[in-house]
Amino acid sequence: MKRTVFLGLFLLLLNALQAEDGYRLWLRYDLIDNKALLQQYRSALSAMSFPANSPMLAAARNELLLGLQGLLGQTPRSSGPGNTFIVRLENQKDLSPEGFTLRTVQKNIVLTAPTEKGILYGVFHFLRLLQTQQPIDHLDIASSPALPYRILDHWDNLNRRVERGYAGLSLWDWFTLPTYKDQRYTDYARANASIGINGTVLNNVNASPYILTPDWLEKAASLADVFRPYGIRVYLSVRFSSPMDIGGLHTADPLDPAVREWWRKKADEIYRYIPDFGGFLVKANSEGQPGPQNYGRTHADGANMLAEALEPHQGIIIWRAFVYSNETPEDRARQAYTEFKPLDGQFHKNVLVQVKNGPIDFQPREPFHPLFGAMPNTPLLLEVQLTQEYLGFSSHLVYLAPLFEECLNADTHINGTVSKTIKGMAGVANIGNDRNWCGHIFAQANWYAFGRLAWETGGKAAPYSAAIATEWIRQTFTNDPKVVDSIKEMMMASREIAVNYMTPLGLHHIMAYEHHYGPGPWLANAKRADWNPVYYHKADTAGVGFDRTPTGSNALEQYAPGARTQWADSNACPDQWLLWWHHVSWNHRMHTGRTLWAELCRKYYAGVDSVRWMQRRWNALRPAIDPERWQQVDMRLAIQEKNAVEWRNACLLYFQTFSRQPLPETAERPDHTLEYYQQHKIDYAPGTNQ
Ligand code: GCU
Repeated sequence: MKRTVFLGLFLLLLNALQAEDGYRLWLRYDLIDNKALLQQYRSALSAMSFPANSPMLAAARNELLLGLQGLLGQTPRSSGPGNTFIVRLENQKDLSPEGFTLRTVQKNIVLTAPTEKGILYGVFHFLRLLQTQQPIDHLDIASSPALPYRILDHWDNLNRRVERGYAGLSLWDWFTLPTYKDQRYTDYARANASIGINGTVLNNVNASPYILTPDWLEKAASLADVFRPYGIRVYLSVRFSSPMDIGGLHTADPLDPAVREWWRKKADEIYRYIPDFGGFLVKANSEGQPGPQNYGRTHADGANMLAEALEPHQGIIIWRAFVYSNETPEDRARQAYTEFKPLDGQFHKNVLVQVKNGPIDFQPREPFHPLFGAMPNTPLLLEVQLTQEYLGFSSHLVYLAPLFEECLNADTHINGTVSKTIKGMAGVANIGNDRNWCGHIFAQANWYAFGRLAWETGGKAAPYSAAIATEWIRQTFTNDPKVVDSIKEMMMASREIAVNYMTPLGLHHIMAYEHHYGPGPWLANAKRADWNPVYYHKADTAGVGFDRTPTGSNALEQYAPGARTQWADSNACPDQWLLWWHHVSWNHRMHTGRTLWAELCRKYYAGVDSVRWMQRRWNALRPAIDPERWQQVDMRLAIQEKNAVEWRNACLLYFQTFSRQPLPETAERPDHTLEYYQQHKIDYAPGTNQ
């Protein structure tokens, strides 16, 4: 008897622990712990009128019932007296097709939207209000997405390896698709719908041509069927040479009639599998991928050929501007602009050009890409990276919303802020088949924030990323205001902390080769000049930094005069951008009054100290967080601390060989020599294709 009770208790405990493994993301729907509020909510939601005669409305209704059952411990009656949650499809002035209103009307809560999708988003918004314990007695909300395209880009290969993926294998179990539809696909769609994401690119931009063969299209169609009720359209990355690779043609020249015909037929075939197929994402003539330039054609020729094939089906082409060539001696930061700016106005209506947030490659800090604002006749998408390729993978706690917001709010001095120059956002996904989806519990916040920012683009009072963090914490951990504030402070500081221990003061691209994890500022023998850290920092005994002013590469000229002025003068340039734009002496006087060398030391040391601060803070939060997630984060913070020390020591010892100045006297001494760090190799790191 005793043993049975013990076993029962043990299983109960095990269950309780397992329940907090991070799987539920921000959709936890646990019973509201505030009794008074619970009573209010219950009485506000005694009945419900929610006609649901379509798969999307049924999905929305089921979500509402699931949420209410969890949060309130009961569901509303489907009719009858009392305060009612009323759902109505209805056209509304000033609402975009995906928008909704939530209003209190005579003690009832009324959700209206012009489309089913709007209803779906309204339901998730309402559940967010409850989960974050907001008042619902005087609702007067009208919400429309700022951007029509809000897309996740999965860099998932067909063998389930994820390029730059740090959360296990691809979520798509291609082997058992199309027949086996894992519950995770539905939960993935729910999570996306809850933050307004309306598109997903299933496969890697370095695309395999096989994705366009019938077997794979059938698998993609099966996923599209699961996602459809949640308002998510499926897109595919395509390889430009597919007509040759799988079509038996001898060319992929976009002006060749047989090639055009091949793509037209392929498009017709795809739409037979996926009637609401979103379109193609294309990486062409970039990092070895084939493209129209192989045939002496332009990016516009290539994109337009595909655009014509998809046009009858209302599909779009998303053409990436991430191009740079080793053969071109031009500063890599200039190359995308040089190639694309002259093509403005030449693309078909259904082509969008996708531009990374900065001109190099998802570094911890970059100025905004000069193409924003520079292509007024071409719709642009902003591409950001949720997966932390250059920010410590899924091992480091780095909340990326401030980075995204910094770009969205940057003034192009042409058409206002970057957010005003784009039609959508694409986020390179950080999702894999890890139980908690993203590897790091806090990496979930980057997925969450991406969707929320694409919906609002920071139109709200800045910093909007802080408000988003608050929402996420309340749904993911707790509504206790002290705990919320404490975690929020940590999250909001985390990006700058990573910049400090990795690439302070405008340094960039000084990480280890290939896997991009850890420091490698000394690297000089990669197979391309512009893959070498030394290309980017240009340290010598005279100083450090990349001169991108008129005396150097003049990448500065690609920006509008108003934008240029903030960076042009090395004495006025804000410290955080200095070494991006200027090569300055080690004794250059910074805005803080210190020399550059002293400031560099200070930043690297502050970075490490701040990681330790995060560790202490997390430790203090222990009683407020469930043990399983607390420990996961605690262990990852330990990795982060170790890595931050490595970054600091390796970079400072290396730069010291040029500055020839001492480290601050009172500072912690590096525990290894420079040679040690230079020889330190990681034998295995996730995210590469090796
Ligand atoms: C980076 C990344 C590659 C990726 C590329 C891209 O260079 O390291 O893995 O393919 O970006 O965005 O296409």
